[in-house]
Amino acid sequence: MRVIVAISGASGVQYGLRLIEVLYELGHEIDLVVSDGARKVIEYEVKKSVDHIFNKATVSYDIKNIGAAIASGTHPSDGMVVVPCSMKTLAAIANGLSQNLIHRAADCRLKEEQRLILVLRETPLNMIHLKNMILAKEAGASILPASPGFYYNPKSIEDIIDFVVGKVLNLLGIKHSLLKPWNPD
Ligand SMILES: Cc1cc2nc3c(=O)[nH]c(=O)nc-3n(C[C@H](O)[C@H](O)[C@H](O)COP(=O)(O)O)c2cc1C
Repeated sequence: MRVIVAISGASGVQYGLRLIEVLYELGHEIDLVVSDGARKVIEYEVKKSVDHIFNKATVSYDIKNIGAAIASGTHPSDGMVVVPCSMKTLAAIANGLSQNLIHRAADCRLKEEQRLILVLRETPLNMIHLKNMILAKEAGASILPASPGFYYNPKSIEDIIDFVVGKVLNLLGIKHSLLKPWNPD
């Protein structure tokens, strides 16, 4: 599959970085776009270079390049994931603002009726956030809050990250071993 991975400036950039790693390990192609906000959050949360992960992308795009291939509905994409998705990026997508390449690529996925997964991260949520989620959902996006479950008894932060990334892969229809089907018996 060929998946657009967009990283915006919400907390939890680790989810996006891990998704890139897993898609790459599973042999999928990745179109990558990273917002300026995300680069700032990476500085705070990761505190080291993530170039070795970004280098796993098949193609990387500048956030300002609204003429890039993924800014067209003709791009041969099997879906797009905004992970993590900030409330600002949610607002722009939900209201069709297309102010940067992430917004525009998402807009194209919706108009082409392709899979668009928004891994939202904010808490608590105000009414604007909630209404924008409904708008995005009504337009065809999947709303996947970065909300890890603990019933798998995670042993590490990596386990918690893999829970959320596993949920993303499930929605993309990609087989993986991050999250086994729940079977308490
Ligand atoms: C360390 C840090 C953590 C942040 N966490 C969040 C968050 O969890 N959710 C959110 O909506 N915004 C968060 N923000 C604010 C966004 O980065 C900010 O609104 C930015 O303009 C988003 O732009 P972007 O969506 O284009 O990346 C955070 C900012 C910083 C610096």
